[in-house]
Amino acid sequence: MKHLIDPMDLTKQETDEIISLAQDIIAHRERYQGSMSHHKLATLFYEPSTRTRLSFTSAMMELGGNVLGFSDARNTSVSKGETVQDTVRVVGCFSDIIAMRHYIEGAQLYASEVSRVPIINAGDGSHSHPTQTLTDLLTITRELGKVDGITIGFCGDLRFGRTVHSLIKALTRYKDVKIVLIAPEELKLPDYIKHDVCDKCGLPYREVSTMEEVMPELDILYMTRVQKERFLDEDEFDRVKDCFVLDSAKMALAKKKMAVLHPLPRVNEILTEVDDDPRAAYFRQVENGKFVREALIVKLLEWKDDPAHQMPQQDAAVYDETLHCNNPKCICNNEHAPHKFRLADNGTLRCWYCDHKVK
Ligand code: NCD
Repeated sequence: MKHLIDPMDLTKQETDEIISLAQDIIAHRERYQGSMSHHKLATLFYEPSTRTRLSFTSAMMELGGNVLGFSDARNTSVSKGETVQDTVRVVGCFSDIIAMRHYIEGAQLYASEVSRVPIINAGDGSHSHPTQTLTDLLTITRELGKVDGITIGFCGDLRFGRTVHSLIKALTRYKDVKIVLIAPEELKLPDYIKHDVCDKCGLPYREVSTMEEVMPELDILYMTRVQKERFLDEDEFDRVKDCFVLDSAKMALAKKKMAVLHPLPRVNEILTEVDDDPRAAYFRQVENGKFVREALIVKLLEWKDDPAHQMPQQDAAVYDETLHCNNPKCICNNEHAPHKFRLADNGTLRCWYCDHKVK
């Protein structure tokens, strides 16, 4: 069975198949209507969402399927202390596939270990957001015709922005992609992405301190919101909240064929004056999210019993009861997940569930 917890759970070929199917759905929507009748999607959202939850719901409805679930876990047995593993065991009796968003990092990976239906990670804390990655890849493909060879600037909160982490991982599989990171010191990309992802896969990145100095070379500008809800210190948030703002003056420096992406919601980081610029692709990106989720649901259910589509071979896990993940937002520190770690190439030991450095 195939879950989608991390973008690398899909092979490049499976990713391409999903993107192509999404394009076919866009071109021939009527062909897919009703294709998921008699199937049920459960949306389990432990954290706020507009686009992701509604696009999953709308995607399943377009396919003629049904949707059940919750958007506020406080009204469910979670408030009685039910674990994510027990919840997916139960919900798997009522549905064929589950999309789950959780504020705890690694919650979906832990849940998938016992699930009898495919689990889709719809965002776990500041860790990963693989369905936004599929949305972004489809959007880049539709805006520019290709992903290979692009220069992409990531701007804003690269520390807590889970969409950035997941998209960078996926980009390691495309040819000649260059990455530029535009973030204040406090919001820089986590080390594990720089070292275990970019350096390991030979994805070149450089860090700059202003948008102006890179605007002319970008094919994609990926703007992000500063993730207020992830800060432990409010003063720190206040210092960085308006760090980079995209306006018409900055757009004037960019290529004619550049595209601006943003997973949304935006707060102050893109002025509304940019919305009418034909290069502002963020609302088109939202609609792509629905089509790509339709394609994902179709494919995960098609692959469910196909031995050719399994979860990728994982690195060997290291179990050590004497070691602790020090991320308070990790599933290990919120439920009784095992003390399980992975050994990175450089000898670093990282938490299996949230990727934080342990040793
Ligand atoms: C993003 C998320 O939830 O991570 N939104 C989304 O899913 N489209 C980005 C954000 O909240 O800033």
